[in-house]
Amino acid sequence: MSAIRIANLHKRFGSTIAVDGLSLDVDEGDIYGFLGPNGAGKTTTMRILATLLRPDSGQAEILGHNVVTDATNVRPLIGYMPDSSGAYRDMLVSEYLEFFAAAYRVTRDRRAKVVSDCIELTGLGDKRDELIEGLSRGMRQRLGLARSLIHDPGVLILDEPASGLDPRARIEILEVLRALSDMGKTILISSHILSELRHLCNKICIIDHGNVIYSGTIEAALIQARTSHRLEIRLTERTEDAASLLRDMDHIQSVEVQNGTVVAELEPGTEDFSFVATKLVEQGYGVLTIREEEILLEDAFIRLTTPEVPPLPK
Ligand SMILES: Nc1ncnc2c1ncn2[C@@H]1O[C@H](COP(=O)(O)OP(=O)(O)O)[C@@H](O)[C@H]1O
Ligand SMILES: [Mg+2]
Repeated sequence: MSAIRIANLHKRFGSTIAVDGLSLDVDEGDIYGFLGPNGAGKTTTMRILATLLRPDSGQAEILGHNVVTDATNVRPLIGYMPDSSGAYRDMLVSEYLEFFAAAYRVTRDRRAKVVSDCIELTGLGDKRDELIEGLSRGMRQRLGLARSLIHDPGVLILDEPASGLDPRARIEILEVLRALSDMGKTILISSHILSELRHLCNKICIIDHGNVIYSGTIEAALIQARTSHRLEIRLTERTEDAASLLRDMDHIQSVEVQNGTVVAELEPGTEDFSFVATKLVEQGYGVLTIREEEILLEDAFIRLTTPEVPPLPK
């Protein structure tokens, strides 16, 4: 059974079409990246899955339960983290979670333990007796996540949990998500930046204008978008020799040296490039850095699927 199944979903707000025939299947155990530019329809879709918004037409199911006709059975199965939380700033972290535990009918004798577990799991340990108001954005995102976990749901629907975080806080929250995935949870996580999710998700879906333009693995997406990674490699010495070595390797499409840096382009679809460092180190090169150029896969897809806009007349 699919954890999440969406079929031909439609939602409009007045004349704005937010979701336009969207279909998606998420298997149990997936960490599914839900990607697309701002305004693509991610939040609207997630709010429908979370039973907070009714679709105009089409179906959405969580573990076989319809989100419209069977919403009361859907709610215990899902943990939803909205894209902004806001309220309850004058509560302590622990009070806030206890409040939600009670709201989810966690029995009084189990509540303290459940709250402690969620605090532990999300790394909020030393903040439990602090006011929400004083928390950093990263800590507030963790609190939002802790809240979504309070009733131990199997399916998590997380709307941009890593957005607006500094790199370190982002990595930390992604680590928490990985741990949750290892516990067997199914995760649908949205972002407007692919690079934020690519090392976390096993599958991605890219949407634009309320419709899926790609779903599947990241590797296959890179092939389909004809986009490849570029690596910038800095070495202590023998840069030209290293370039020659890399040129003869599998999975490397082209190599050049620019300003003393080796720039290697990987074959489309090559996601794991750890072999590059391994080979260089094996051959005795001093590797200072291997930096990956940011790939804009969503852009590549949107370019492929959007007709060229004709230039404005002069
Ligand atoms: N409550 C609403 N009222 C009117 N328009 C909305 C509402 N929510 C979303 N929209 C519009 O629907 C489209 C999709 O928005 P949204 O689902 O928030 O996209 P995303 O989360 O991908 O940025 C946008 O054009 C947005 O302005
Ligand atoms: Mg959104």
